[in-house]
Amino acid sequence: MNEKKQAGEYAAGFIKDGMTIGLGTGSTVYYALAKIGEFIEQGMTLKGVATSTATARIANSMHIPLIDLNDTEKIDLTIDGADEIDPKFNGIKGGGGALLREKLVANASDKIIWVAGHTKLVQKLGKFPLPVEVLSFGSNHTGRLLEKEHLHPILRKTKTGETFYTDSGNVIYDLHLDEIAEPGKLAERLKQFTGVVEHGLFLAHPNVVITGTGGSVVIRE
Ligand code: 5RP
Repeated sequence: MNEKKQAGEYAAGFIKDGMTIGLGTGSTVYYALAKIGEFIEQGMTLKGVATSTATARIANSMHIPLIDLNDTEKIDLTIDGADEIDPKFNGIKGGGGALLREKLVANASDKIIWVAGHTKLVQKLGKFPLPVEVLSFGSNHTGRLLEKEHLHPILRKTKTGETFYTDSGNVIYDLHLDEIAEPGKLAERLKQFTGVVEHGLFLAHPNVVITGTGGSVVIRE
């Protein structure tokens, strides 16, 4: 069975009637969204807060009622994907470019579940290039500063070679670091750059990690 489907659908099992749910972004979360759509069809009352326009589009197509993050005091449960997850539940996110809204939604959530295929589990973060969202004003300068600090930034492009812009109109530099020895220190360091809006290091964020293996689902809490 498709690992992403396994993980996404299993996570949807944590949803209870009446919940406000943070809807993450990506191909694994897609399967949770499909289940949420089914729950609504079966009569559950649920509301979603989308972490990207891509997710909002999918949620709309599945008739999931959406509210703005500003219109709720808290989110009961967020289901999101991840690009890498280490044994301490630190992660890299932002492969899909939604890291800023994903972090804001995560910060407002009582409970966070990450869903992923088993290959996302790593001993050390960093093989996956770390996405850093940079204000587009002066972004070439911020990029050069990141380069000077030996953080190996590459400006993200779309498939057609244009500069990639996030839903908030910022650009992304992906840092090719290979291994991140101290995620906490790097997170602090990145916050020192004026032009850096947010980075894709999510430190000890999820309460639960659900990975598909093809054969079964593995839950870590
Ligand atoms: C988007 C993300 C995604 O959650 C992450 O890229 C995982 O996506 P997928 O489930 O498609 O592998 O952080 O910004």
